Amino acid sequence: MLIRLFALTVLSLPLTALAAPPVRVSSPDGRIVVELDSDPDGRPTYAVQRDGKPLLAPSRLGFLLVDTPKLDRAIAVTAPRTRSFDETWEQPWGERRRIRNHYNELRVTLAENAKPRRHLDLVFRVYDDGLGFRYEFPRQEGLPTVRIREELTEFTLAGDATAWWIPAGEWNREEYLYHRTPVEAVGDAQTPITFRLADGTHLSIHEAALVDYSGMNLTRVEGRRLKASLTPGIDGAKVTREAPFNTPWRTVQIADDAGGLVTSSLILNLNEPNVLGDVSWVKPMKYVGVWWEMHLDTKTWASGPRHGATNENVMKHIDFAAKNGFGGVLVEGWNVGWDGDWFGNGEDFSFTRSYPDFDLEKLSAYAKSKGVVLIGHHETSANAAHYESQMGAAFDLYQRVGVPAVKTGYVSDAGQAKVIGADGKVHYVWHEGQDLARHHLKVVTEAARRHIAINAHEPIKDTGLRRTYPNWISREGARGMEYNAWGNPGNPPEHEAMLVFTRLLAGPMDFTPGVFGMKTRAPDGVATTWAKQLALYVVIYSPIQMAADLLENYEANPGPFQFIKDVPVDWEETRVLNGEVGDYVTLVRKERGGDNWYLGAITDEEPRTLKAPLSFLDPGRRYTAQIYRDGPMADWKDRREDIVIEEREVGSTDTLELKLAPGGGQAIRFVAR
Ligand code: NOJ
Ligand code: CA
Repeated sequence: MLIRLFALTVLSLPLTALAAPPVRVSSPDGRIVVELDSDPDGRPTYAVQRDGKPLLAPSRLGFLLVDTPKLDRAIAVTAPRTRSFDETWEQPWGERRRIRNHYNELRVTLAENAKPRRHLDLVFRVYDDGLGFRYEFPRQEGLPTVRIREELTEFTLAGDATAWWIPAGEWNREEYLYHRTPVEAVGDAQTPITFRLADGTHLSIHEAALVDYSGMNLTRVEGRRLKASLTPGIDGAKVTREAPFNTPWRTVQIADDAGGLVTSSLILNLNEPNVLGDVSWVKPMKYVGVWWEMHLDTKTWASGPRHGATNENVMKHIDFAAKNGFGGVLVEGWNVGWDGDWFGNGEDFSFTRSYPDFDLEKLSAYAKSKGVVLIGHHETSANAAHYESQMGAAFDLYQRVGVPAVKTGYVSDAGQAKVIGADGKVHYVWHEGQDLARHHLKVVTEAARRHIAINAHEPIKDTGLRRTYPNWISREGARGMEYNAWGNPGNPPEHEAMLVFTRLLAGPMDFTPGVFGMKTRAPDGVATTWAKQLALYVVIYSPIQMAADLLENYEANPGPFQFIKDVPVDWEETRVLNGEVGDYVTLVRKERGGDNWYLGAITDEEPRTLKAPLSFLDPGRRYTAQIYRDGPMADWKDRREDIVIEEREVGSTDTLELKLAPGGGQAIRFVAR
């Protein structure tokens, strides 16, 4: 086996090592090659090429530590070990049933040449659709506790690229509109960050398995050089861990086109398999809720004459869900604590005491008698410490009355969350730091013990942990539909075509589509056509999908509502037919356990005609296409309701022309005959 040593001085470098080539590993198809080397200062670097073309130029690796010398120079890359892995695993729920996990792995030991002679392993896994790498800290003398001031990992793009990104370190967490800039104009960015190279190759940099570590942002140092900047912690250390431990995987997804990023399973593959065992109790479903009316400010979360979570209103929603085949009813504002400034008073919330006009036991029994479930709600106002003090009792209560899913929330105008640190004192920390990473996983595992699924709003970013904890069923983590209720600005027409190629690469999003009442408190209201609202059920993946609008808007519009009733939330297969970041996209998905396919196409403010070859359908089989398309006058500005619903018989050799209005879309259900 090849052993190459890098050292600070030529004198300490064996001659054989000088002549040896750098250490390499390639993807199973041979297209992607990762090369480990060191720079003139003896710092380890990695570089990535595809089809012989450089994608990432040599980029640094290493750590700045607290109270001990940094770990980045005079480091030898030693003891390379390689292995290959190929398995296919099944998702309990997901955008596809089966996922192939096929990679070549290279493990090296990074060893200091001089005192204090510390060492750690660096592991690369290279797939056909990208790569992941992580650092593994062993237990060693002199470094039992590792306090990381900064991770020195870099990603240097080798050529010109357009970048789509949202800013990091801002008070409103992940709820920003995306920037589209040259890579040279990226500032502090969150991940996933998406790049389009001059030749059309697309990259997305993110992370997988963020466990007990601080979330990674990227800061541009100069030119096209981006450097990890970990989310700050309580003190000078951004991460504190007892060895042994592994960092999250740093991931680079690589695809020939934008759609290739969407169908990549790299992030999931780099997570550990399910540790919860039988998770048949985690149920994908559609739901309605006592929700949109609060965002429109016709009802309130707080108690009083306009209180939304009353027995009567909840029963009305249960009846509607039962009648229309929805699995759940979300109820917000049911518990004590919403009166006054709930943004700032997390400690006022009780997660076990209901307002007097909401009877949890009676309503959950009523729901059960109708074959639906209540979805619980825990708004914490980012007071994680207070929530943790009640969490056990709150989940016990929900388990007892039969509430199998909980939406959590971490709203805070201060931008910071309240936790109790290791010192036993109160601290205010960032949402993406190590303390909140720990907190979220604690919530998910405590909930799992009671067979409860978690849908976190204002969450920590998604890094694929749903594979390990399949009860982490969805989350928010971007501007959702709520911005169309009160945002100023609301979500622009390009927003969802942006999310598909950015935020959604991380995992499912509880976006809450399906609004027909287009006039709201936001200046432009809901800036899409009706057909686009329907298409979002296929375009935006989430195993729980809300029908977000007021019930009366569905009752008044049974035609388009039919698609929301029909569309599944759990899929056998997913494909992208076309798409460009922030412009348009067409996805098709096959329902789990059935023969029907669904298509969703959306555009930004530009009208477009997209071609959809139906070669995904079973050859030789006939299908009835139930088409929900923009009408001739449709436009997101003033004719949003113009929708045409029609049927056609089609087969796999047909190609459809999808005519999308400005801000429009199209939804199709292909019913196998
Ligand atoms: C923000 C969430 O995204 C929204 O869905 C919820 O209604 C409010 N917080 C109140 O918890
Ligand atoms: Ca939110």
